Amino acid sequence: MKKIWEKIIVGNMQLPHRLAMSPMTRSRALTDGTPSDLSPEYYGQRASLGLIISEGTQPSEDGQGYLNTPGIYTKSHIQGWKNVSDRVHQEGGHLFIQLMHVGRTSHPDNTPHHRQAVAPSAVAPGEQIFTADGKKDVPVPRALRTEEIRDVVDDFRKAARAAIEAGADGVEVHGANGYLVHQFLGENSNVRTDEYGGSVENRGRFAIEVTKAVIDEIGADKVGFRISPGAGLGGVKEGVHIDQVYEYLVSELDKLGLAYLHVMHVGNEGLLRKIRSIWSNPLLVNRAGRPIADISIDIDNNLADIAPIGAWALANPDIVERLKKSAPLNEPDRTTFYGGDEKGYIDYPLLTTKELTK
Ligand SMILES: Cc1cc2nc3c(=O)[nH]c(=O)nc-3n(C[C@H](O)[C@H](O)[C@H](O)COP(=O)(O)O)c2cc1C
Repeated sequence: MKKIWEKIIVGNMQLPHRLAMSPMTRSRALTDGTPSDLSPEYYGQRASLGLIISEGTQPSEDGQGYLNTPGIYTKSHIQGWKNVSDRVHQEGGHLFIQLMHVGRTSHPDNTPHHRQAVAPSAVAPGEQIFTADGKKDVPVPRALRTEEIRDVVDDFRKAARAAIEAGADGVEVHGANGYLVHQFLGENSNVRTDEYGGSVENRGRFAIEVTKAVIDEIGADKVGFRISPGAGLGGVKEGVHIDQVYEYLVSELDKLGLAYLHVMHVGNEGLLRKIRSIWSNPLLVNRAGRPIADISIDIDNNLADIAPIGAWALANPDIVERLKKSAPLNEPDRTTFYGGDEKGYIDYPLLTTKELTK
């Protein structure tokens, strides 16, 4: 577990160790998408994780899929996020805002404009989603017209600018977990016949255009990108050529000099090794569901530079101290993951002297 405590430079940040906070949707924003007054406390409590990657944040009205997720496209959103970044900085941490456009993973009940969701193709994921009236089927989305794609790319660009205005240290483009960017990469979610569909190169075009636009706006050292090869979330499947999809994408992204690449890893070890060999800058590997005792393995084996932590960081604001002292951890309470108030958000207890002397 030694290497995990070594410093590392990511983009223009000097980070104190090899842990980070993985992005986690908490659905506690105000109905207009402004982070609530509790958010600065929540993120500030976790600042010792060094790099905090925020919950998925929509770059536009179309980009919202779930209730009470934050946005980063109005003055009020910017002020709300400014309160968060100021607090994280006061506590010595860094904040990257994750730009999440959900694409088809949405429901008109959950968006401000109540319109049909947009996606690469008019293919429903075959899943259900929570609305204010309970679970409903995710409807068939509307396929984006070729000329509309430019506007969506522009929404990402503007959101990146807004994130910097809000004092964030950078943004993470959410290319994972079955959302819009991933829907373009998928074989079953993208059946387009224009230059954004078909070949591996065409399916990667949207991801690359979004990343280039964001870099153009705020600089490559302030941009990360997240992928989740083979995770199957949101019904997105990359198909039999999955390795080529990611080898191509990662090689192209590597040329852009991003601050980091973030892999949510579900088990394709060969592909992870390949990605490690292609990627020049810091690589973040979040192994979904990995026992916390194994947190340093990828770092020690030089398969990753940073190991972001999800649920355990949600439940343990002082997880860095706890891991350093081999102290016991609070169990994450799944019933308070999404929505609600302070409970399960800012009230997880810190380590007590009693626990330390156990
Ligand atoms: C409550 C919750 C919300 C999540 N929301 C997001 C999200 O907004 N964006 C994202 O990329 N991943 C999201 N994830 C996935 C986590 O970032 C992480 O990849 C996953 O939980 C596996 O890591 P862990 O085992 O350390 O929790 C979420 C996970 C949880 C538990």
